[in-house]
Amino acid sequence: MSCGGSRARSGGSCTWTAKQYARTVTGVSTTWDPARYLDFDDHRARPFHDLIARVGATAPRRVVDLGCGPGHLAGVLAARWPKAAVSALDSSAEMVAAARERGIAAERVDVRDWTPPPDADVDVTNAVLQWVPGHLGLLPGWLAALPPKAWFALQVPGNFAAPSHALVRELAAGTLRDEAAVPEPEAYAEVFAATGADVDVWETTYRHRLTGPDPVLRWIDATALRPVRDALPPAEFQEFRAALAPRLRAAYPARPDGTTWFPFRRIFAVARTH
Ligand SMILES: C[S@@+](CC[C@H](N)C(=O)[O-])C[C@H]1O[C@@H](n2cnc3c(N)ncnc32)[C@H](O)[C@@H]1O
Repeated sequence: MSCGGSRARSGGSCTWTAKQYARTVTGVSTTWDPARYLDFDDHRARPFHDLIARVGATAPRRVVDLGCGPGHLAGVLAARWPKAAVSALDSSAEMVAAARERGIAAERVDVRDWTPPPDADVDVTNAVLQWVPGHLGLLPGWLAALPPKAWFALQVPGNFAAPSHALVRELAAGTLRDEAAVPEPEAYAEVFAATGADVDVWETTYRHRLTGPDPVLRWIDATALRPVRDALPPAEFQEFRAALAPRLRAAYPARPDGTTWFPFRRIFAVARTH
């Protein structure tokens, strides 16, 4: 069998070579599709609610949503702390536009350039830092700049070894994010503790019960597959997706009633400054 387009032979099968992936995976300019991201909204939002349940602020002056996406969860923060100013920040033009459409005054900011303002009493970054290589190194500076008694709460997926990511890497044969994209919970705990903050770190594996055909493929369409979609010509991306689908079906089989279990590990870390 010959391998065409961007593909090369590897271990007896064709994989998509990904010379361009390094550019798209580490950059912040990869395209987000807010509507597609809001598929599975209820499942995706669950860790956010579990995260902010551990933030005990009663009257914060400012609440920052760092990497706010389409802004739906910034709205939840505004509802929880109605007297606070809410800053919703994201590097994606599409996400900022989607947030503004829902009435959130989002601004285009790359978290790597962000410094907490002096009144940033609550800072939440949910499902963002896995896209920021080396983000552990940003945390001490952010915590040092926070006001006293401030809360910093982060959540990142801890599932880079799961089939949903490993199968994409196997097929892509490129520079896609691997397990190193997200440190283990202990690393966040140590970094926060070293700043002298109070620390609350935990992990949860959710068992999402998904419906419809190829639900895991549709889930990662909006997230893990974005760099592949950006790197390949459209027709080749469709071939890639078609090759991935049966592998994901085998790893996450549909149950007799048509639903599919999707286990998804998440890592949470909350710090409170003194
Ligand atoms: C998976 S979405 C999460 C959105 C939202 N926080 C939520 O929980 O639904 C990841 C978001 O992180 C943003 N993001 C990724 N890298 C970023 C960076 N360096 N600076 C700011 N935002 C970034 C993306 O644009 C995207 O909106």
